[in-house]
Amino acid sequence: MGIKSLGYMGFSVSDVQAWRSYLTKKIGLMEVNGSDEKALFRMDSREWRIAIEKGDSDDLEFAGYEVADSKALRLMTERLREAGVQVKTGDTELAEKRGVMDLISFNDPFGMSLELYYGATELFEQPFISSAGVSGFVTGEQGAGHYFYAVPDIEKGLSFYTELLGFQLSDVIDIAIGPDITVRGYFLHCNGRHHTLAIAEAPLPKRVHHFLLQALTLDDVGYAYDRLDGSSDKLTDSNLQAEESDNNTSSMITATIGRHVNDHMVSFYAETPSGFELEFGWGARDVDDCSWVVTRHNRTAMWGHKSVRRK
Ligand SMILES: [Fe+2]
Repeated sequence: MGIKSLGYMGFSVSDVQAWRSYLTKKIGLMEVNGSDEKALFRMDSREWRIAIEKGDSDDLEFAGYEVADSKALRLMTERLREAGVQVKTGDTELAEKRGVMDLISFNDPFGMSLELYYGATELFEQPFISSAGVSGFVTGEQGAGHYFYAVPDIEKGLSFYTELLGFQLSDVIDIAIGPDITVRGYFLHCNGRHHTLAIAEAPLPKRVHHFLLQALTLDDVGYAYDRLDGSSDKLTDSNLQAEESDNNTSSMITATIGRHVNDHMVSFYAETPSGFELEFGWGARDVDDCSWVVTRHNRTAMWGHKSVRRK
């Protein structure tokens, strides 16, 4: 019963073209259905994992979590309704748009749109081909990745996501965000991925501080870093430079390559065209509920992840 993984994420973005270029040329996703108004992107055998739609918020607009089957969806619907959450069911138009067999939609306590679904569309007959040569992304049982979510009331957020939706606490990090300000980040899992959702009562301008995509190899991280810090432009021929000259000559890196203390992810951070960040990583450790114990940490990085002023 319950949530198996983060299946997909949807972002409302003011500059669709910049995002299409960013997610394909820089991050290496595969665009499957793009226009001036919206686009879908693949990162594995699924029909899509990331959606962007033209809008004003420049933020995460919805997140879709996968459950096993119709019975699990029904049980989650009952559970949410018993807790007083307004749940929309039977939206066949939305289910068709998402390419799933059935879904429910509702808001979390802070107005964030969530969907639970089962029966996503698999396209094994059309292999994922990265548009930037990324060897692949860690998905499967661990889902699409994770996101760091700023909430105005951490107790309410923890209660909703753990007690109601069934996430489990992996650990916490007390993050110093100023000389006298420390924010406790709670890292929650719903499968072997160390955290699918991190939440904190943090004064951020957006809902999301960042979302993470995890590549299969360390080299994928290095190549992506070079593409995003602009140095790949210096390495490529003049034709490619001309093609990439739209917005890609300056660095978008916001934190250098480093390794996190809790999930042990080797990653870097880069700004997205909407201002919030993307974490591109590799090499995280998994959580095994049989042996895992909750711990706390005083910093986010073992090494690296140094803040970068953009050029
Ligand atoms: Fe992260």
